[in-house]
Amino acid sequence: MSVAAGDSVAIVGASGSGKTTLLGLLAGLDLPSRGSIVLAGQALDALDEEARAALRAREVGFVFQSFHLLPSLTAEENVALPLELAGREDPARVREVLQAVGLSARARHYPRQLSGGEQQRVAIARAFVARPRILFADEPTGSLDHATGKQVSDLLFALNAGSGTTLVLVTHDMHLAQRCQHVYRIDEGRLQRQEHVAA
Ligand SMILES: Nc1ncnc2c1ncn2[C@@H]1O[C@H](COP(=O)(O)OP(=O)(O)O)[C@@H](O)[C@H]1O
Ligand SMILES: [Mg+2]
Repeated sequence: MSVAAGDSVAIVGASGSGKTTLLGLLAGLDLPSRGSIVLAGQALDALDEEARAALRAREVGFVFQSFHLLPSLTAEENVALPLELAGREDPARVREVLQAVGLSARARHYPRQLSGGEQQRVAIARAFVARPRILFADEPTGSLDHATGKQVSDLLFALNAGSGTTLVLVTHDMHLAQRCQHVYRIDEGRLQRQEHVAA
């Protein structure tokens, strides 16, 4: 599979078919036993773990189904973390992305004080704060009710369109998949491009 810059791509398939595994491989979190992956012009198998981590920090954002916020940090501290780890603190950028996800008023709240939808919006702000070229999202609406999931996916597509960030998402939701420019299905170990997707 090949994903062009700025594209939105959905990966669908049955539970256990390997969607999360594929996303982890594409993001350089894991290495394949066979085959090769080129991420932002770099062949991942040519890089050691440290160089892959640096590439991820520079180019990749990741959003998980279960948010994965640090419970002991406030919303704004969670969002600031990728910049701090990269040694480029930028409070103005943190405020800007919190505003972009509509959570300026919640900046000092801890994850347990936020709803699921708000937590996922914090996670999206965190994924976007360092201006990644590619955002990977693993069932980003899978833990949310329909209306909240719609808000979160609207936000992902707005950020995809507004910042030119490539979006690769895994979902069970065919309505969400249909909103992507391209849809791939994993079935019995094979990845197939879907030309026409029925909801
Ligand atoms: N760390 C692991 N070690 C071994 N098998 C795994 C591991 N993670 C997932 N699997 C297996 O790999 C297959 C694909 O899993 P996964 O990528 O999580 O699927 P999906 O996200 O489509 O539900 C499943 O059979 C799963 O049990
Ligand atoms: Mg999965």
